[in-house]
Amino acid sequence: MAADASLYLKNLWYLAFHSSFLKNGKLVGKEMLGEKIVFGRDAQGKPFALRDNCPHRGVPLSQGWFKDNTIQCCYHGWMFNTEGVCTGIPAMPPDAAFDPSKIKVFQYPIAEVNDTIWVYIPEKKLPNTVPNEPPPNLILNVDQKFKHVETVMMPADIDHAVIGLIDPAHVTFVHQSWYWRSAKKLKLKEKKFEPTARGFKMVRHKPSGNSKGYGILKGGTSTEITFEVPGIRTEHILVGEKNQVVSITILTPVNESQTELTHILYTDIALANMLWLPLKRLGKQFIGQDLGVFNKLNEGLKSKPTLSLIGEPDLQARWYYEIKRLWAISQQNNEPFVNPVKPQTLHWVT
Ligand code: FES
Ligand SMILES: [Fe+2]
Repeated sequence: MAADASLYLKNLWYLAFHSSFLKNGKLVGKEMLGEKIVFGRDAQGKPFALRDNCPHRGVPLSQGWFKDNTIQCCYHGWMFNTEGVCTGIPAMPPDAAFDPSKIKVFQYPIAEVNDTIWVYIPEKKLPNTVPNEPPPNLILNVDQKFKHVETVMMPADIDHAVIGLIDPAHVTFVHQSWYWRSAKKLKLKEKKFEPTARGFKMVRHKPSGNSKGYGILKGGTSTEITFEVPGIRTEHILVGEKNQVVSITILTPVNESQTELTHILYTDIALANMLWLPLKRLGKQFIGQDLGVFNKLNEGLKSKPTLSLIGEPDLQARWYYEIKRLWAISQQNNEPFVNPVKPQTLHWVT
C-alpha cells in the first residue's frame, strides 16, 4: 500500500529465523526488507550477520566458504572475519604495502532471544552501529524455549500482511470451522485498547464465549493481545494461577511482494503438552486459511483497486499506518517517537 521508501520501517529489530536454522559452520543468505544478509555462527556459537555482498565485486558472501571463523568469497578468495573485517587477499603479492583490514563489510547488530534470531536494520549503514533499543521482549524467561515454530511466505507486502494480522473482521469468514466458531453465532464484541511503546494492546480480558478453542483451557483464563511495529503480535494467555500460553506471530518483510510469517508458541500447561499434535494442526490450519485468502487478495491487487479502511473494525489498521508514519518521521528527525494511539474501546461483530 505505502510507496517504496516508506514501506519498511528502519532502526528496528526484525526476526530472521528460529535458532535451529543457523547451524555451526554454515552460511545462510536471506533477503530482509529488500536487503541481502548473510548469517552464520562463530566457533563459540555466537550468531553474526553481515551484508551479503563481497566488497570486491559484489558476489554474495553466502555463496562462499566458512571455516575457522573466516568467510571466504568464492570469486577471488578474499577473506573476512565474522565482524566483516577483511583479513586477507590471496592474490595480493606478499610485499604489497596494503592493509586489508581497511576493507569492511557492514555488520548488522544481531541477538538471540529464546532460540529466535533477530537482526537490527538501521536506517544508515554506519560502522559499529549500536541499536537504539533492546531486542523484542518475548515474555518468556531466558531459559524457556518456544515449542512450536511455523513459517510461511505470504504473497503480500508488509502492510497487507500486518493488516491481515490485526484485522478482527476476517476471523468469522476465513477461520470459521465447526469446532472453533460459526458465522451463525455472531456477537457484538467490545474491547478496550491502550497504547504501548510502539503499538497498542487489547487490554487483558476473558476470551470470547464463542471461541470453543479456549474451552480446553480451564480455570480462570484471560488474554492480552499486543501489536507493535514493525509487525509483532503477541498473545499472552494466563490460565489459573500459574500457567501460561505465549503465542507470537511475527512478520518479516522480505521484499515488496513477499512477507514471511512466523508463528511461535509456548505453553507450560500439561494438558496442552499432551494435546500438542492436535494443537499444532490447529495452528497450521489457521495459517493455511490466512495464506489461502492472501493468495486471493494477491490476485485482486494486481488490478490496483482503490482500498478502504472503514469504521471500528478497521481502526487498528488505521492506527498501524499512523504509528508507522510517525515512527518514520521520528527516526528521520532523530526525535523520540510519540504514540498517537489513545486509550479507547472498540466494537465489532464477530
Ligand atoms: S568478488 Fe569476492 S573476492 Fe572478488
Ligand atoms: Fe487470520
